[in-house]
Amino acid sequence: MLPTARHFAVVTTEPIRRHWGMPLLESFTGDPARVDVIEMQDGERYKTMSTVERLASELVKLNADRNTVLIALGGGVVGDVTGFLAGIYMRGIRFVQVPTTFLAQVDSSVGGKTGVNLRVGKNLVGCFKQPELVLADPMVLTSLPEREYRSGLYESLKTGVIRNPEIFEFMEAQRDTILERKIEALEWLIAESVRVKADVVGEDEEEHGVRKILNFGHTIGHALEADTSYKVFLHGEAVAWGMIAATRMAQRTKRIDAEEASRIIQLVLSYNKLPPVQSRANNITRRLGADKKTLDGQVHFILPCAVGRVEDTTDVAAEVVLEAVSELRSFPQA
Ligand SMILES: NC(=O)c1ccc[n+]([C@@H]2O[C@H](COP(=O)([O-])OP(=O)(O)OC[C@H]3O[C@@H](n4cnc5c(N)ncnc54)[C@H](O)[C@@H]3O)[C@@H](O)[C@H]2O)c1
Ligand SMILES: [Zn+2]
Repeated sequence: MLPTARHFAVVTTEPIRRHWGMPLLESFTGDPARVDVIEMQDGERYKTMSTVERLASELVKLNADRNTVLIALGGGVVGDVTGFLAGIYMRGIRFVQVPTTFLAQVDSSVGGKTGVNLRVGKNLVGCFKQPELVLADPMVLTSLPEREYRSGLYESLKTGVIRNPEIFEFMEAQRDTILERKIEALEWLIAESVRVKADVVGEDEEEHGVRKILNFGHTIGHALEADTSYKVFLHGEAVAWGMIAATRMAQRTKRIDAEEASRIIQLVLSYNKLPPVQSRANNITRRLGADKKTLDGQVHFILPCAVGRVEDTTDVAAEVVLEAVSELRSFPQA
């Protein structure tokens, strides 16, 4: 149920509004509330303080007050910006997430992390702000470009590896149905993936401990994204390579047996041909120390012990990391 309010402000971008603006506005029929739509420019480049400032000024012009409810209609970019805006506008107002990408439905809309990028790095300014409601409708995914869609699926695959073998097995067995975007399959996959994320976040909202397992694949993934200036990989694709590297590290350090490791790697590779890794391995390992998740100069790796179970460790020799990254080139790529 939408929270009750007399004024809603939908934050979105022009392309998303074109696809899903009307259906959302029509769903307000019969409701006496005033609904405004404000747009930000589309894309990660606009996930900035200046976008937040401009949107806040527009809210003021629309007489938005402490009872206004914001609705984020879009992918992770719109969700992160809108959540942050809701966190700070008039010291905090309510907001609702209507995620329109697979990644946003299973990942970014859940957990309450919001924020924007600075020129010097991603997601460096933000706050924790929980939405009143997350409305994830798999129908909206039908208009998502193929590459965006497949990239988002890796976040679900991740939840399977870290916590829920059923998700993993479902993705093995139902690959074709999932890639055809059959609604029933997506409903199950999204609900189960969200459950994993919500459970983990519920146990550790501010990431002091168990929440770190959600970073499986992200340590190397973030380094690959940064090393290619965010131009080569979509986020999920970089995470996919990161999951392969982490699985190989786990295998080399005898945390996981060869058969289980190969199951994980095969499933990752079966969901898309990933853009090739061209970074030098030691550039990647050098970047690991600069990761926001690095504490006390120690790099944390989330390594799988089996499908459904991972270990958070700082105990991985530098050569093992280097080898796992160098080896990525030997896997099939686009
Ligand atoms: N807050 C968190 O916990 C969290 C977690 C993961 C990622 N993120 C953030 O999420 C962002 C990435 O989100 P994303 O992958 O959703 O990318 P995005 O928001 O940039 O959306 C990707 C593209 O898809 C288009 N699009 C969105 N929905 C569509 C639809 N239904 N049909 C057609 N086109 C559509 C958008 O216009 C955009 O061009 C990053 O900024 C990342 O930092 C946040
Ligand atoms: Zn991610």
